[in-house]
Amino acid sequence: MAPGVHTVAVIGTGKIGELVLSGLLRAGWPADKLMATARRPARAEELSQRYGIRVVDNLTAVAEADVLAIAVKPQDAAALLDDIGPKVPGDKLVISLCAGLPTSFFGRRLPEGTPVVRVMTNTPALVDEAMTAISAGPHATVAHLALAEEMFKPLGATLRVPESQQDAVTALSGSGPAYFYLLVEAMIDAGILLGLPRQVAHDLIVQTAIGSAVMLRDSGEHPVTLREAVTSPAGTTISAIRELENHGVRAALLAALEAARDRARELADQNK
Ligand SMILES: NC(=O)c1ccc[n+]([C@@H]2O[C@H](COP(=O)([O-])OP(=O)(O)OC[C@H]3O[C@@H](n4cnc5c(N)ncnc54)[C@H](OP(=O)(O)O)[C@@H]3O)[C@@H](O)[C@H]2O)c1
Repeated sequence: MAPGVHTVAVIGTGKIGELVLSGLLRAGWPADKLMATARRPARAEELSQRYGIRVVDNLTAVAEADVLAIAVKPQDAAALLDDIGPKVPGDKLVISLCAGLPTSFFGRRLPEGTPVVRVMTNTPALVDEAMTAISAGPHATVAHLALAEEMFKPLGATLRVPESQQDAVTALSGSGPAYFYLLVEAMIDAGILLGLPRQVAHDLIVQTAIGSAVMLRDSGEHPVTLREAVTSPAGTTISAIRELENHGVRAALLAALEAARDRARELADQNK
């Protein structure tokens, strides 16, 4: 889809909605082909000032946009769809960015046959390094998936997955940036424990994280191989790794991601 052919409205423009809007603008999407909706007038004003786009009410967005990207919290989705659902013309593409909510949730609240695509992106969209997973709902065609893909490609990498994998995707990449930030925060604290100034510890760890991430992406090597290259016999790294294993870091990650997946399922159960 060439930018500018379709009009996209972000419905419920908070953190994720704004990431999508700003990414589309950076990718050259014409501002006059973008719309946003917000619940609070102050937020509406902020968005229109910051991006020079039209901030409209939900029903105007539904009537005028070709693609409706729904970015409200899962808990707010039912109330939103009670308002707009029956008025969505069946030829619009609805893209859900909501964690946990299956496309069937939208299907029940939209006119029969409305195509729905479920998308899970993440906050590195802000620097065009998002990981976005895209799944087709019942009425979404290959063309709808391609359209969603074209919208999210400028924000980073995209991957098509079956919808049955989306709760796991949410646990891994949707929430994933938070796990890395927590690790970095803890390693900076460790640097302070070892007597480094906070800024030095920060700079050392952040650049190490960036370097490691680029190696993981670009070297084609398995993480185990990359780790082994840093782990010499009887060296410093293996002493640290023994402590990480003793403290159950690997088991903690398995349990943590399982908990995130279960929470995504709970959100779906609570918002049927
Ligand atoms: N944050 C993440 O890292 C992340 C990652 C992947 C997916 N997601 C998903 O993205 C969605 C949005 O998350 P978020 O973190 O961006 O939440 P958020 O910052 O709270 O954004 C949601 C926005 O929707 C607005 N809103 C709610 N009901 C509305 C309505 N009826 N009409 C118009 N606007 C309405 C809210 O207005 P108010 O300001 O008045 O509350 C808020 O600005 C969630 O479903 C979440 O699961 C988030």
